[in-house]
Amino acid sequence: MRILMDGSDADVFRNLNDYLPLDGVTTNPSILAKGKGTAEEQVLQIANLLDKQQTLHVQVVSTKYEQMVEEAKRIIEAVSRNVFIKIPVSPDGLKAVRSLKGESINTTVTGVYTTMQAVMAAKAGAAYVAPYINRIDLTHSDSEIVINQIVQAYQTYGFSTKVLAASFKNTRQVIGVMEAGVEEVTLSTDILKNLIHHKETEMSIEAFTEDFTSRFENRNEMFLK
Ligand code: E4P
Repeated sequence: MRILMDGSDADVFRNLNDYLPLDGVTTNPSILAKGKGTAEEQVLQIANLLDKQQTLHVQVVSTKYEQMVEEAKRIIEAVSRNVFIKIPVSPDGLKAVRSLKGESINTTVTGVYTTMQAVMAAKAGAAYVAPYINRIDLTHSDSEIVINQIVQAYQTYGFSTKVLAASFKNTRQVIGVMEAGVEEVTLSTDILKNLIHHKETEMSIEAFTEDFTSRFENRNEMFLK
C-alpha cells in the first residue's frame, strides 16, 4: 500500500518523511491557497524533495478543456519530473484526460463521489482516480460501499486505473479503504501522525526506561563502554 501526504508544506513533508515511509505528495488548489509563498513555489519546493519512487500529483485550476490541457503541459514542463496531473471529473475534465492520455501524460481524476464517475474516468484513460472518502460520507452516502464498488468494477472489467483514495478525516476511514483493497491513500499531516501515535504506546515506552534505569544505576542504554 502506498501512502502519500496531502499537503504542500515542504518543511512539514521533510519532517514527516524523515520517519514515515511516505510515497509522495498530492496537492489541490485549496491546499495551495492556504500555503506559504506562491502556488508555483510550493509545488517546486515539494517536487525537489521527492525521490524517484515518490510520486507527485498536481491539480489544474482551469475548468475548460483547452486550458486544462495547456496548464497540464506547463506543470509538467515546470516541475521537470514525472508528475500526475489531477483533473476534476467533469465533461471538460474527461475530455482533457482522454486527450492527455493520447500524449502519454498521466492523469489523476479527482473529486470523485460516485462509482460511475470512477468507471468513466477509467474508461477515459486515467492513471489514478481519487474518490473523496469523507466528503462522500458527508453527502449521506456510504464511502465504504462506493469504494468497494469501484475496486470491484476495476477488477471485473480489467481497468489498469489505480485508486488513490483521498479526503479522510480519521484513521478508521483509512482502514476501511485498506479492507477494500485500495492501492494508495493520501492523508493530511494530522492523520499521518496519528497512524503511529497511541497514548498507551508512549506510556509503555516511558515505563521501559523507568524500569531499566531504576534497576541498573540510572543507565538508559545497554552495552555502554
Ligand atoms: C486530495 O488530493 C484531495 O484533493 C483532498 O484529499 C481533499 O480533501 P478534503 O476533503 O479534506 O479537502
